[in-house]
Amino acid sequence: MNQDTHENHEQTDLTRTQFEKPHFEAPDFDVPYFKVPLEKVPAIGERTFLQVDDRFLVLFNIQGQFYAIDDRCPHQGASLFGGKLDGCTIQCGAHGLRFDVATGFLVNSKSMKISTYAVHCVAQRLYILLDQESAHG
Ligand code: FES
Repeated sequence: MNQDTHENHEQTDLTRTQFEKPHFEAPDFDVPYFKVPLEKVPAIGERTFLQVDDRFLVLFNIQGQFYAIDDRCPHQGASLFGGKLDGCTIQCGAHGLRFDVATGFLVNSKSMKISTYAVHCVAQRLYILLDQESAHG
């Protein structure tokens, strides 16, 4: 009886292997990443808030291009989620500093920078690379 149970498990595992490893399912990133839930993918012109472990991120969809930044202004730490967006520039609501969401830098300066993360689309799913500053800029 135990043997029957064992055989059943093996059969189940084989079935699972066949169906859980389609070639596109696991992107081969060499850094930690976050797979964005479909309901958190912003529409064009929108943004979503993401909590990934102890990080708080904002994901923007600007004319079909996705950008991910830390939800923390480098000036005094205010949330950037509600900031005014103008093109690729986000304006912090606390004191009005403006940052390029693509590069993370303060507009017209490199004295301050928000953390940015590369966003990749694989098989129509979005992935945010967590340990790599974005290469958008
Ligand atoms: S906290 Fe963002 S501009 Fe001061």
